[in-house]
Amino acid sequence: MSKRIVVLISGSGSNLQAIMDAVDAGQISGQIEAVLSNKADAYGLERARRSDIPALVLNHKDFESRELFDLAMIEKIDQYKPDLIVLAGFMRILSAHFVRHYRGRMINIHPSLLPKYKGLHTHQRAIDAGDLEHGCTVHFVTEELDGGPLAVQGKVSIDPDDSAESLQGKIHKIEHKIYPLAVEWICSERLKWTPDGIILDNKPLALQGYQFHQE
Ligand code: GAR
Repeated sequence: MSKRIVVLISGSGSNLQAIMDAVDAGQISGQIEAVLSNKADAYGLERARRSDIPALVLNHKDFESRELFDLAMIEKIDQYKPDLIVLAGFMRILSAHFVRHYRGRMINIHPSLLPKYKGLHTHQRAIDAGDLEHGCTVHFVTEELDGGPLAVQGKVSIDPDDSAESLQGKIHKIEHKIYPLAVEWICSERLKWTPDGIILDNKPLALQGYQFHQE
């Protein structure tokens, strides 16, 4: 059965676009029911409107606390009865209540090879550490920031002339492949977070998640 997806964004929404394109191409057994942004000028909202997807804005600055903002988000999101919440560049820390409410059905994409480089400025941190490889990770969301179990990971090489900007470009290309893939695997119930860990096609995944390789 087709799953109901709500996507949360704060910015450009290129990952949202990749997922929208995969839905349009029939590659995902689900529909994006709504896109919610905490920023009214997020370009991703425009992408949603162009595809006739409800584009919702809730400005965190209008709320007295993180908890109240998150409660208002839950109220809006749950109108769409989502099976899956997709964080696609949603740059807000989530309250424990919000995370628990969507436990097991909320995923995030983070621009590093988690558990390395949680938080911000991941590309520069990978360069400064002299790493030879970098990447991005889709993970289920828990109360620990960027700390939930890993689902899919994609790698890129760091070349001597790479800058944070060039790495970001390389990472985006991989993100646009692994995020639609992870969304489809969850929608088709091939990928699940169970008490025994992350399962893909009835087999437990290694802690780093499924390792994506370009064909
Ligand atoms: C993506 O690169 C994603 O990994 C990152 O924000 C970017 C959003 O780009 N997310 C985080 O840093 C979350 N900690 P997009 O708006 O073009 O999809």
